[in-house]
Amino acid sequence: MEPVKIGKWPIKIPIIQGGMGVGISWDGLAGAVSINGGLGVISSVGTGYYQFPKFAGKLINGRPNDENFCSSEALKEIFKNARKKCGDAPLATNIMHALTDFKAGVISACEAGTNIIISGAGLATSLPEYTKDYPDVALVPIISSAQAAKIFCKKWSKSYSRLPDAFIVEGPKSGGHQGFAFEDCEKPEYQLEAIIPEILEEVAKWGEIPVFAAGGIWDKADIDKFIEMGCVGVQMGTRFIATHECDAPEYYKQLLIASNENDIVLGESPVGLPSRRLYTNLHKLMAREKAPKIACISNCVSACKHGEGAKKVKYCIADRLADAIMDKRETGLYFTGTNGYRVNEIISVHELLQKLTQGE
Ligand SMILES: Cc1cc2nc3c(=O)[nH]c(=O)nc-3n(C[C@H](O)[C@H](O)[C@H](O)COP(=O)(O)O)c2cc1C
Repeated sequence: MEPVKIGKWPIKIPIIQGGMGVGISWDGLAGAVSINGGLGVISSVGTGYYQFPKFAGKLINGRPNDENFCSSEALKEIFKNARKKCGDAPLATNIMHALTDFKAGVISACEAGTNIIISGAGLATSLPEYTKDYPDVALVPIISSAQAAKIFCKKWSKSYSRLPDAFIVEGPKSGGHQGFAFEDCEKPEYQLEAIIPEILEEVAKWGEIPVFAAGGIWDKADIDKFIEMGCVGVQMGTRFIATHECDAPEYYKQLLIASNENDIVLGESPVGLPSRRLYTNLHKLMAREKAPKIACISNCVSACKHGEGAKKVKYCIADRLADAIMDKRETGLYFTGTNGYRVNEIISVHELLQKLTQGE
């Protein structure tokens, strides 16, 4: 595997650790990945829960209110603590375009010292406008179609005289939210192997933009396969949860170890996209109409329209993802990719990167 550059930032091992919110990839995981040569990605969502309740402000029902759900101060603290682990090694921030205050999140990440911004869950076509005071910050959209690649390249070259510094192509085996309709997630024509060639073809028309593959990538053989197809590297999420350094509580990691293939399901989400998760007690509560009440304290994603979307799907995504990291096991929502059931041990980030680069 060859080192790559994203904008001006050299990455020794072409493996990006996917941003995982709420609270799964903060300083512990991202700092460890970056110091070991991969690209560590800090998740910007729900930072009001970092070192709870230090950055949560005035609590409502025991939770940070909408002003503090994504706390800029907490994000800066996460960066400070990650830098203690990885020094000057490149660090990225994952900021979902679907967030109610996407722009504020981007500016906070730049102020916190991010080197790269990775953005999915919608098309962040105005991203360069928000980072114009930070020209060194590389910008990486997550996409799932050639059409999306074209939209970014066309708009950014026309409006901002620049192109994305890389693309991440995410297929429908990934953990969390999918860039596909529910019924399309299983179709052969939307699988990563099928969409990569047409996306590479589109991207090549615009210049030399590195492309990373994501979703369902498990081992070195998978990585080699996508590099042979023309990608420069990969982004992986689920496998990084099962590391000692991952910020998720121990119970989350043990749930993955205990899981079977049948425990991993797609479900509806207030974001309006299907999301992949473990079938846990929360789902049993929802089936019996006994899920926790929806109060919309965090006003997290615009598509939910202040709790309307949550009511339709019977749960609040901010509260339930936060419960997972607060170790509220009965009501937590636990995202995983299709490969979650293959996790059978917890190892260090260093060991994982060794396995991924040198084989098992
Ligand atoms: C627990 C969890 C949380 C995630 N949260 C986010 C997120 O906040 N933003 C995002 O763009 N992707 C998110 N993802 C997707 C990952 O960044 C990554 O792209 C994906 O999981 C790759 O597929 P894999 O898990 O099969 O390796 C999440 C994935 C998981 C498993």
